[in-house]
Amino acid sequence: MAAFAAGEACLLYDAKGRTYLIRLTEGGEFQYHRGVVPHSSIIGESEGCFVEASMGSKLVAVRPRLADYTLKMPRGAAVVYPKDTGAIVMWADIYPGATVLEAGTGSGALTLALLRAVGDSGRVISVEKRPDHAEIARQRIEGFIGRIPDNLELRVGDVEDNFADAAPDRVVLDMPEPWHSVVPAVEHMRPGGVFCCYLPTIPQVQEVRKALSKTGSFIESTTFEVLHREWTIEGRSVRPSHRMQGHTGFITVARRFTRPDAESDQESS
Ligand SMILES: C[S@@+](CC[C@H](N)C(=O)[O-])C[C@H]1O[C@@H](n2cnc3c(N)ncnc32)[C@H](O)[C@@H]1O
Repeated sequence: MAAFAAGEACLLYDAKGRTYLIRLTEGGEFQYHRGVVPHSSIIGESEGCFVEASMGSKLVAVRPRLADYTLKMPRGAAVVYPKDTGAIVMWADIYPGATVLEAGTGSGALTLALLRAVGDSGRVISVEKRPDHAEIARQRIEGFIGRIPDNLELRVGDVEDNFADAAPDRVVLDMPEPWHSVVPAVEHMRPGGVFCCYLPTIPQVQEVRKALSKTGSFIESTTFEVLHREWTIEGRSVRPSHRMQGHTGFITVARRFTRPDAESDQESS
């Protein structure tokens, strides 16, 4: 693995396991309650190296995992939590080479995970209606990857207006009213495609499930949430941790299929 370079994100662990996310710059400094660490003491070193702060404390420097970055990065909009991201990538079946239509881009956290999953041969078209959020997302994506990759298209607008030319294999929505995207998904996502949305409340889930059902063009609609419980393992104290992420969002997934009467519908229209 290449040595740390200026421009990269770096995660520092102190002796108590506290973490600090920094962006390495030439001449930059990281300051915390235990002193100062010049970025020059990290740049050129290998991942996992120890660096010493001015007051003598040592820190370990690594590249942030995508989960670390997602939780630590400054946000505009609320992000999809890593526990849910994994489930979305799996159950929306984001595969190498897929074309994914995503909205809203928000802070870009889910976009980063989708990009990884589609690989270099795939494509992510991510739509955000608020220009300020779109700009934050652009910065956060650049902060992790170093640039906006060629297979990512960031668009500002309403996702409903972006289905026709995207012709997606997968639709992944984290926005308040995904039911408006159900009919566009029927019209422009190929049969076998997956529609997935992430919603914080059950009335929203009911609304989208109603819209999916009304089209008669989706099978296997499912809704679930992901519970993630950490455990404390310290000597004989082996128990669930006191704190747990109570609720984040509900994931709804449905598969598009061709209704037997679809061809005759088209012929008669
Ligand atoms: C919760 S945030 C998305 C967070 C993002 N998934 C992440 O992990 O960083 C929801 C975003 O959807 C955007 N939005 C809402 N309705 C939209 C629409 N119809 N088209 C595009 N973006 C939309 C909002 O402006 C907001 O930024």
